[in-house]
Formats: sequence, C-alpha cells, structure tokens
Amino acid sequence: MSSPKSLLIRNARIILPNGELMIGDVKSRDRQIVEVAPEISNTTSTTEIDAQGLTLLPGVIDPQVHFREPGLEHKEDLFTASCACAKGGVTSFLEMPNTRPLTTTQQALDDKLQRAANKSLVNYGFFIGATAENLPDLLLAQPTPGIKIFMGSMHGNLLIDQEAVLEAIFAQGDRLIAVHAEDQARINQRRLEFANIHDPAVHSQIQDNQAALLATQLALKLAKKYQRRLHILHMSTAEEADLLREDKPSWVTAEVTPQHLLLNTSAYEKIGTLAQMNPPLRSPHDNEVLWQALRDGVIDFIATDHAPHTLEEKAQPYPNSPSGMPGVETSLALMLTAAMEGRCTVAQVVQWMSKAVAVAYGIPNKGAIAPGYDADLVLVDLNTYRPVRREELLTKCGWSPFEGWNLTGWAVTTIVGGEVVYDQGRVNTQVRGQALTFL
Ligand code: DOR
Repeated sequence: MSSPKSLLIRNARIILPNGELMIGDVKSRDRQIVEVAPEISNTTSTTEIDAQGLTLLPGVIDPQVHFREPGLEHKEDLFTASCACAKGGVTSFLEMPNTRPLTTTQQALDDKLQRAANKSLVNYGFFIGATAENLPDLLLAQPTPGIKIFMGSMHGNLLIDQEAVLEAIFAQGDRLIAVHAEDQARINQRRLEFANIHDPAVHSQIQDNQAALLATQLALKLAKKYQRRLHILHMSTAEEADLLREDKPSWVTAEVTPQHLLLNTSAYEKIGTLAQMNPPLRSPHDNEVLWQALRDGVIDFIATDHAPHTLEEKAQPYPNSPSGMPGVETSLALMLTAAMEGRCTVAQVVQWMSKAVAVAYGIPNKGAIAPGYDADLVLVDLNTYRPVRREELLTKCGWSPFEGWNLTGWAVTTIVGGEVVYDQGRVNTQVRGQALTFL
C-alpha cells in the first residue's frame, strides 16, 4: 500500500520560483516538497499523479476572505468555504474578523482556530479586528497575520472612522495593519444625497472614488508618520493607484480583487445587487489603471474578498441588499484566463496569488515549488475552457458574479500538505489544513 504522506507528480509543466517553465516531476514527503527535477525515480510506496499536459503552480493563498463562522453560518461556514477553496486551487486563506462574535479578542481568535482545525480542508489564518477599545488585544493576539481596520463600510464596533482612534492604533506596536479604506463621513453624507434611489448602480456613486481615496490618503499618512507596516485591502480606484505609484514607502503593500480588475459598473445592469460590494465596482478606466498598477508592482497581490450572502438576502432592494460577493472558486481561473488573453503571464499570476502574499505576510515555506517548501500545490488545465456554472459551485451561498464566463485554468487537482484535497470534481473531505504561522 502506498503511503498517503508521499506523493510524486509526474510530467507536469512546473512554474519554477524564477518564473521559468520546466517539464518534470515534483516529489513531496510529510507535507513538504523534497525534490523537483526533470525526472524523479519512484522508489517504493509513493502515490503517483500523471500530470501530462497540466500546469503545476503553488497553491493560491487568498489573503482576504469572509467565511462567516461563527455566527453567520447560513451564508457560509469554514467547511463549505474550505471545500470551495479546494475546488478553486486555494490552499491557504486569511479570514476577516466581522463574524459573530467579532474576532477582537484572543478568545475569539482561539475559537476560530479551533473551529478551523476541526473543519477546514485548507490552511488558515485569522485577522484580529480593531475596535476603539481593544488595543491590548491588538498588541498581543497570536497567531494572526495582522490587525484589520474598517475605516468605513462597517457598522458597530469594528468601524474606526475617527482619526484620533486610528492614530492611537498606528502609534502602538509594529504588527501589520490592513485597512478597508473608505471614508465613512463622505459615505454618510452621500447616502443622504442619494436617498430613495433603489437602483443598485447608485452604490458606486455613494461610495465613490473620492471616498476610497480620502481613506487611503489618511492611512498612508499615518503609516508614514509611524513607519508602520500598512496593507491596503482591495484597492479599487485609479486615484489610489496613482497615489501609490507616486509615493509608496517600502513598508506599504496593496492588493486588488479579480472583480475590481474584471467587472465594472456595467455589471449592475446584468446582475443587479449581485454586483454590489464594498468598495464598489468602478469604471472601465479604473479597471485598466488597476491592471497596469498590478503589472508594474504598484499593487502587490490579489485577494478575492470572498464575502458570501444568500440569494434571498441579495434579492432585497438596494440599499437593504448586503454588499459582497463570493470569489474563492473562480479567482485562479479568472486570472489564468486573463493570462491566456495576454493581459499578464502565468508566472505573474503565481507571483500575485501565492509568492507575494507569503512574502508580505511573512508566511514561511509557502508560495513556491522548491525543496523545503510546503507541498501546497494546484494542477491546472490551460488547454480547455469551461463556463462558471451555478450548479457546480460549492460555496454555501450558491452563486457567482461570473456565472456564464467561459474560463480556462480551472484546478484539476489541489494538494494541501502533500494530500490530494480536490481531484476532478471530487473533494476529499478527510483532509485538514493547518494553522498558518507569521514571521
Ligand atoms: O462587500 C463587502 N462585504 N466588503 C467588505 O469589506 C465586507 C464584506 C462582508 O463581510 O460582507
């Protein structure tokens, strides 16, 4: 009998750490890659995968998701979300604190880690959420990729829309601060101006480019003043990209979502409130500027902001419809399809969806196919196209803003810690991920 801890992938088109392509084999043992070579001989009991014609990438690390557990499990939970990850080639995720209870204490963080240990098929990490009162928790909570601050688009304790409170957080400690940068005062004022309009397209006007720019400017100002490690979540506007292009300290990073690259305000006409998210979709011009900023390294990596809501919730008329859309099942295929269309290279997709995320968050041994790295891998098929179909989705919310899009680069086999967690439509629900560590 072959040992499940030992795996040999044969004849794959391997994207190497330097971005070059090599046809060859990858061997893993006890969760780690032990050998990468044009040909590896199979000594004893190793499970083999024939990857002829398929491309092998490091597994995707999705650094911004909302998986809803605990408290909002009617939308998603850590099991369903991690099944969706496995199907999408996502082998690790960083999850946000707007669950119930909020993840604002060590106790709440420990609870999530325990739930994930029991249920998650892929690797996991959880942000600690900032409130006006939990500075000690923000300084001490472990393990966490960083502090999440909602500068806008949030209600209740997680909203930090006062500069003095924000500054107190930036001033103390040195761990990474990730900001949802939208200016709440401007949003509040524009909500009044656009009240009683139920066309969801007004969402992009209320929470406009200027609202995003104002908050990003403030976060940058504080990051510079305190030389504080800052990450700008889901950057959405040309104005913010231009700002960072002019002045981006080495301790600042930024991400963009596939939906802000590929969808724009024209989506409201087609899918209505399913296109509603925070920060909102922008114009085709914003799409193009964000793409260029990503290609130029002004934006460092990709996150999905997977934020599922049920179709019933989404069917409420704007503004009662909640903001957010799912993404972990489609992100890799969307980006690889863009690569096949010539918008970027496959090596860049690997950089933006794996390597750069591991580097930015100090996640050891992830994001590359090389000996010593964890065997978190995805085999994708770049030769065939298949549409996004609602009935095939594993996310509990059961819909995607990209339904009908014909994509290539779908995950064929996903491997977490050397174990096959997804293969050609089948999820291996026995596999469990591990808690991520952060340097
Ligand atoms: O659209 C969004 N929905 N943006 C966020 O930042 C939060 C999210 C959610 O949790 O639903």
